[in-house]
Amino acid sequence: MSRQKKNHQNNNHSLLTTQPPLFKQVCVIGLGLIGASLAQAIKDNGLSERLVAVDRHGPSIEEAIKQGLLDAGSSRLSEVVDGSDLIVIAVPVQAVQAVFSDIKQAMDDGQLATDCMISDVCSTKLNIIDAAKAVFTSLPVGLVPAHPIAGAENSGYHARRANLFVNHSVIICELPTTNETSIAKLRLLWESVGATAMSMAADHHDAILAHTSHLPHLLAFNLVEQLASHDDNLDMFRYAAGGFRDFTRIAASDPKMWHDIFFANQSAIVSALDEYGVYLQTMRQLIINKDSTALMGLLGRAQAARRHFGHMLASTPYTDTTAMSASYIITPSNTVSGTITIPGDKSISHRSIMLGSLATGVTQVTGFLEGEDALATLQAFRDMGVSIEGPDNGKLTIHGVGMHGLKPSKTPLYMGNSGTSMRLLSGILAAQPFDSVLTGDTSLNKRPMERVAAPLRMMGAVIQSTGHSGTAPLSITGRDTVGQPLQGIAYDMPVASAQIKSCLLLAGLWSEGTTTVTQPEVSRDHTERMLSAFGYPVTVEGNRISVTGGGTLTGGDIAVPADISSAAFFMVAAAISQGSELTLTQVGINPTRTGILDILKLMQADISLSNETHVGGEPVADITIRSSNLQGIEIPEYLVPLAIDEFPVLFIAASCAKGRTVLTGAKELRVKESDRIAVMADGLQTLGIDCTVTDDGLIIEGKGTTGNGAASQSDNVNNTHPIFGGGQITSHHDHRIAMSFAVASLRASKQIVIEGVETVNTSFPGFAELANQIGMSIQVDDASA
Ligand code: S3P
Repeated sequence: MSRQKKNHQNNNHSLLTTQPPLFKQVCVIGLGLIGASLAQAIKDNGLSERLVAVDRHGPSIEEAIKQGLLDAGSSRLSEVVDGSDLIVIAVPVQAVQAVFSDIKQAMDDGQLATDCMISDVCSTKLNIIDAAKAVFTSLPVGLVPAHPIAGAENSGYHARRANLFVNHSVIICELPTTNETSIAKLRLLWESVGATAMSMAADHHDAILAHTSHLPHLLAFNLVEQLASHDDNLDMFRYAAGGFRDFTRIAASDPKMWHDIFFANQSAIVSALDEYGVYLQTMRQLIINKDSTALMGLLGRAQAARRHFGHMLASTPYTDTTAMSASYIITPSNTVSGTITIPGDKSISHRSIMLGSLATGVTQVTGFLEGEDALATLQAFRDMGVSIEGPDNGKLTIHGVGMHGLKPSKTPLYMGNSGTSMRLLSGILAAQPFDSVLTGDTSLNKRPMERVAAPLRMMGAVIQSTGHSGTAPLSITGRDTVGQPLQGIAYDMPVASAQIKSCLLLAGLWSEGTTTVTQPEVSRDHTERMLSAFGYPVTVEGNRISVTGGGTLTGGDIAVPADISSAAFFMVAAAISQGSELTLTQVGINPTRTGILDILKLMQADISLSNETHVGGEPVADITIRSSNLQGIEIPEYLVPLAIDEFPVLFIAASCAKGRTVLTGAKELRVKESDRIAVMADGLQTLGIDCTVTDDGLIIEGKGTTGNGAASQSDNVNNTHPIFGGGQITSHHDHRIAMSFAVASLRASKQIVIEGVETVNTSFPGFAELANQIGMSIQVDDASA
């Protein structure tokens, strides 16, 4: 275990480890909150043989010595500094130069080695370097300015906390003059007290801090001042509610400190303030002009950005961090019943945002899936300047910008866990005049992207993937730089993938000439249908689909049907359990998605459709499914792309069927959110199912029995004996793996625990609640709560 991990897990590191302390003597100058907290953390983690401090405030020093924190202390540096190998300056920024003069004197007097490490904790950096330059003829080799991004409501020695820096960042500004050992040792020191060390140039640090810390403090002070100067200020403050308090909380901090910082970081703060003025004027003008669309766009973007950046920085799915590393603890149940509505279709939700944004006019969407994946697409278009209101109970209003209205995003477009967002967007972005970068969470950044990048290059796109295996991040060069538009191509797709097909058709909308894709098997056709619904001509001749560039899209209303891929979990739940009957209302039954119905019917499932109608260009129906004794089958390969997302739960059905089920021609399953063949086989084996992994599929020995031979199908069903044992399953952060094993609990003898279920939110928010509503028993354990 590294020193860093060991230390902040165990405060008495020095007693338990044989590692010598990092330093012989650390001298902390200034025992305010940060200085004293660092001193305490150094002491508790045994990082220095001796610890001394300098502070003008005598009582703090005396108390710190009495409490055993310090070995010595004084108001004068020269009295304690002798032999120190690290000096940490923790005084207000304006006082740093005087400290440097004392340090130089100590060096000249031989109390300190000239290569002694010198660092600080101040929140501005360029002025610290200037102060050092003013004092030392040449910058000391041990000087490494640093800034821990940590603080607390209270200040002073008594507010100190040894864990103040745990899980906080510390920015280390290495100078060209600093020696390697000093940089490495300072990093180790901060990591040993629990911080995450990162390097940054001093000018960049000052600009970032000016925007993220100094400007907000300045505005908070300023707003309080504005209210206080009103004649009716008493009323103003009396009625100032949560918003005012939240916004101005930081104006309660030390005026002297902020006074010093505002001068110390003068130029960066002034430029941040100027930029703020421009934004403020824009907003003022939108209000004056009653420009509702633009104002909603701005507010919506800002609201979403607040949440979005956190996930992007952490490379996590959009899922709330509070829900990270959640598990399902599932008690076996044996029957399900009821009539339920499944959330909206993920594929159609993605496309509604994309085409709605590129259309002219307004697009109203209902039934939009508010899952993480579709929200990633939504955020991307907001980042590219599209005003989108909602989602509010599945309702969205998209103010389309037209085929040429997207703007470059200021940051990489973050796709979270969503392969569909990344692959379809790469087609759209390859055709835009501006450069873009597409990135995703750790799992998405491992999935193959050359399958879209390579044919896009044939169209003239300039697109760079990452690493040997051609994964995200993807960098796309804009057409303005390339100098000519994309060219239509005829492309024979090596795999039946709706994502590849859609990517190329979307790129084809801006290409010169015609783009034709030929797919080896039918894959979902939502892109083709929605393009037609938006008035864009699409030619479909068997498996050949073509679009010609240069057309336009016209916004309209889109009603998103329930997602048959999500419905599949409950179809299998009803089929494999005893005495079950479930009706799933208004589920999309687009024939390119109904492989699940065909396969379950081949397995003798009892499924019927009613209320068949059309919603927004897509066929829908109520699906009723009852218990039945399933039969193992050889799954016809042409059905594979039509049920591509449903195989994890079909494997659960196959385990409950009588006899063997054989899946072939399904290599694509290996490159989904996880390797769904390997991961499902592992889980099935854990639960006692005999199955064999093949290169392109799985063979499952079902443990079901036939019924009792009675005449009617429902009398004949015998689904009472357990098929699965219990155990612990890891979902590999794949939503469909998690939900499939949840369904297995209907035929399990013991509890099933599924780890890593937070990604269920990518496609099916509310899955566990709905499952419990129909009779299952899933407890969600949020480990981080
Ligand atoms: C999707 C297509 C499928 C599917 C994915 C969504 C789409 O991927 O697995 O969940 O919306 O186009 P492939 O087309 O790559 O098989």
